[in-house]
Amino acid sequence: MTAADSPVLALSGISKRFGAVQALTDVSLEVYPGEVVALVGDNGAGKSTLIKVIAGVGPADTGEIRWEDRPVNITKPADATGLGIATVYQDLALCDNLDVVANLFLGRELTRTRVLDEIGMEKRSRELLGSLSVRLPSVRVPVAGLSGGQRQSVAIARSLLGEPKVVLLDEPTAALGVAQTAEVLDLVERLRERGLGVILISHNLADVKAVADRVVVLRLGRNAGAFDPDQTSQEEIVQAITGALDNAVTRRRARSEAPPGDSAAGSSVDSSVDEDRELGGEG
Ligand SMILES: Nc1ncnc2c1ncn2[C@@H]1O[C@H](COP(=O)(O)OP(=O)(O)OP(=O)(O)O)[C@@H](O)[C@H]1O
Ligand SMILES: [Mg+2]
Repeated sequence: MTAADSPVLALSGISKRFGAVQALTDVSLEVYPGEVVALVGDNGAGKSTLIKVIAGVGPADTGEIRWEDRPVNITKPADATGLGIATVYQDLALCDNLDVVANLFLGRELTRTRVLDEIGMEKRSRELLGSLSVRLPSVRVPVAGLSGGQRQSVAIARSLLGEPKVVLLDEPTAALGVAQTAEVLDLVERLRERGLGVILISHNLADVKAVADRVVVLRLGRNAGAFDPDQTSQEEIVQAITGALDNAVTRRRARSEAPPGDSAAGSSVDSSVDEDRELGGEG
């Protein structure tokens, strides 16, 4: 990993309540330049709420956000984009009837003497997509005709036009097939190579293990561990997510590892998260 000495973005003590629901309690999260952080947790764990805090869509009630070592206020989306935080939401917000170039430059069209600079935008689109190794049939096809993975790639490429330093991706592979998922994960690696900090929400632990440098688990709106995916099994991450040692994943593993006839295998393990595997503050 080529991470820098200090995080580009660091949250601490973040809490947020929706009426009776305490969605986030004292949550910390940091991301370094050139680092992919996977944010995982069960439905309702607070992942999207945390992303919205960072994106300025739903500010926190309390807590501190630091950007490049300075405390900042993010109270509206423009604050986040102004700092250099880009967000790609799950619905992508692409215009199906427009072509790739028009989608990339939507709202920030290039003009020359008040006329749209179509040639300039097309050239910039090719350069951008080329630099990300995104392959499309043509930049002049309507995005309605692209695959799910290609559409996701266009949405991620668009987020880079503002030259962000941190990109937030909410479930970028949720609706994709195997090959398309691989394409998008490759693109996430390109973002890391560019030195961007990436926060990736995913339910797919195989994806997470494939690209993440660090896995941060939220459970019931609180931090529930930070793991090095190379040092941690999928079962251990599932444990942190569910808070239970006894689940279908661990039982299956215990069955396959137990000597024949040993029916108690796996049932008496300490239920605390393995301290050695926690990255915590030193990572
Ligand atoms: N606008 C809102 N009003 C009231 N409650 C909300 C609101 N947004 C989120 N919540 C609640 O906050 C908690 C966290 O929700 P959040 O959407 O952040 O979870 P999540 O981890 O993104 O889950 P999922 O994996 O299902 O997307 C949930 O209990 C949810 O019901
Ligand atoms: Mg969510």
